[in-house]
Amino acid sequence: MLRAVAWVQRGLFHPCAGLSAALKSSSGIDQKGILANRVAMVTGSTSGIGFAIAWRLAQDGAHMVVSSWKPQNVDRAVAALQGEGLSVTGTVCHVGKAEDWEWLVATALEHCGGVDFLVCNAGVNPLVGSTLGTSKQVWDKILNVNVKAPALLLSQLLPHMEKRGRGAVILVSSISAYIPHVELGAYNISKTALLGLMRTLAMELAPKPILMNCLVPGIIKTDFSKILHQNEAFWNLSKESQKVQRIGQPEDCAGLVSFLCSPDASYITGESIVVAGFSLRL
Ligand SMILES: NC(=O)c1ccc[n+]([C@@H]2O[C@H](COP(=O)([O-])OP(=O)(O)OC[C@H]3O[C@@H](n4cnc5c(N)ncnc54)[C@H](OP(=O)(O)O)[C@@H]3O)[C@@H](O)[C@H]2O)c1
Repeated sequence: MLRAVAWVQRGLFHPCAGLSAALKSSSGIDQKGILANRVAMVTGSTSGIGFAIAWRLAQDGAHMVVSSWKPQNVDRAVAALQGEGLSVTGTVCHVGKAEDWEWLVATALEHCGGVDFLVCNAGVNPLVGSTLGTSKQVWDKILNVNVKAPALLLSQLLPHMEKRGRGAVILVSSISAYIPHVELGAYNISKTALLGLMRTLAMELAPKPILMNCLVPGIIKTDFSKILHQNEAFWNLSKESQKVQRIGQPEDCAGLVSFLCSPDASYITGESIVVAGFSLRL
């Protein structure tokens, strides 16, 4: 409770605008959007792929719940979305902390009335090095944030999503789930585990109906991937297998997520969709 008060006092809490508010599309035509009157939560949505997804879902009419572990970044993301007249609630959530999931879910329920779409985007990779040299502490961190947190956050949110009818969950995996990056062993493994989590939950949740799918980005230009895209040798090698001759941008991932949340995707579950400008995976 102390935390709630501090948050509001700091002026960092931003409630959703009225749920019936019409939004303006990027084409400038007034419309409600394909996701109008729906609420979407994206973890790690203050920068990179998560922010691009939040922006796109909001443009398509959804009321956004944005979050990350750093208050000042939440504040900045909320201001950017609000500055474009989009509907957004912002709060802090470190996805590795159980008390933060509770806070995030409670905030969304109280201020947005529920959640229809969950995008589990926050991910970490604290290590570049050998897989078998990875310490228990690093394994725990990577698996907690990248794999366990999406499952545990969803378990808290699920009863509330079910009440609202059809829901969609998108887990953000990585092309490294299929084609491992050298020296990112534990991270690669965590992203492969996410594909398994998604497939298992797709089967379990299909009757509800909650749709589960994975976004599988290739190399996308963000701070997170600097270590790859700023490495000339790695990039030259990647270009050989990549057929679209440019690096991916966060926005390249966002339209797919909007589609997976839309009614047009209501018969799509259990799929992993690669956004990589071509990949060698069959
Ligand atoms: N970029 C790529 O090439 C690429 C490729 C494949 C998959 N991915 C996956 O895409 C996802 C997003 O990556 P990105 O490239 O967009 O990274 P990014 O630009 O660094 O953004 C990461 C976001 O996650 C937040 N975050 C980090 N740790 C968090 C935690 N413990 N709890 C809550 N929020 C946290 C960050 O918050 P702050 O800004 O407040 O720090 C930021 O909003 C990750 O799951 C990554 O594995 C990325």
